[in-house]
Amino acid sequence: MSPKHFLNFHNFSKEELTSIIDRGLELKFLDKLPNSLDNKSLGLVFEKPSTRTRVSFEIGMQKLGGNSIFLSNSELQMSRGEPVSDTAKVLSSMLDAIVIRTASHELLEIFSQNSSVPVINGLSDLYHPCQILADLMTFKECQGNLDVSKVAWIGDSNNVCNSYIEAANLFNFSFNIFCPKGFEPKPEIIKTQKNNLILTKTKEEALKGAKIVTTDVWTSMHSEKQTHEKLKIFKGYSIDPSCMELADSEAIFLHCLPAHRGEEVSIDMLDHDRSKVWSQAENRLHVQQALLEYLLIN
Ligand code: CP
Ligand code: NVA
Repeated sequence: MSPKHFLNFHNFSKEELTSIIDRGLELKFLDKLPNSLDNKSLGLVFEKPSTRTRVSFEIGMQKLGGNSIFLSNSELQMSRGEPVSDTAKVLSSMLDAIVIRTASHELLEIFSQNSSVPVINGLSDLYHPCQILADLMTFKECQGNLDVSKVAWIGDSNNVCNSYIEAANLFNFSFNIFCPKGFEPKPEIIKTQKNNLILTKTKEEALKGAKIVTTDVWTSMHSEKQTHEKLKIFKGYSIDPSCMELADSEAIFLHCLPAHRGEEVSIDMLDHDRSKVWSQAENRLHVQQALLEYLLIN
């Protein structure tokens, strides 16, 4: 039987994701963590830099009794032309799960089709599902429920945004994007949404009543270099404390990080009292431990 992979939310139900989020919250507040991943080995194949994803997976495994090995793509034979499928067969014969960060979602799909163990998307050009698990866990930690109802996304429609679109389908919230013309989600992503994706004409419309206000960098790792032109196009698509006044009175501000202060967020936004970005970053650790337990021992 082929293993269950976590490349996006396609093959996951709301109930499964909710149970992972709840387990993440439970693990966060346990006095003593279980040895639930005793003797399990996780491989991390990264083509791109990472702070949060790498450390949360490596330390998450270690704290649950497992171990991990970090494999920079440039040090693997894959970078010299060994087929992705061969690499997947070999690595999955030695490891219990594999996290991949890549600029090509297609590579992730080929890898997972040839892997005998679960493959986890640690960020691709198309999706960043681990991030949204942490975002939803942070919302539940702050509000006590997952009744998100409305999210405002201001800025570039990128991989993180695409995973929000998938979450909106499952958790049935309205996802409001305010972005410059030409930076909307790709048609293949738009066609997956279920009438709850709204491209707003104004920032105010996106923000009104939103329970999560969020954004991400204007230029992602797989994109072209930041140009002066792009900074001009995105001017006005940033979040500052005045945006929180337009959102729901209980709204929280989230950002996956790393952030560019003075671009998509004002200098003071990350440390605003409605900002939960530091808990959000920490929650990557707890919710991914729960994800690993779900994929490896359930
Ligand atoms: N948010 C996130 O994935 O951060 P890293 O790029 O540091 O892993
Ligand atoms: N959209 C960003 C997310 C970084 C965590 C990127 O892909 O670079």
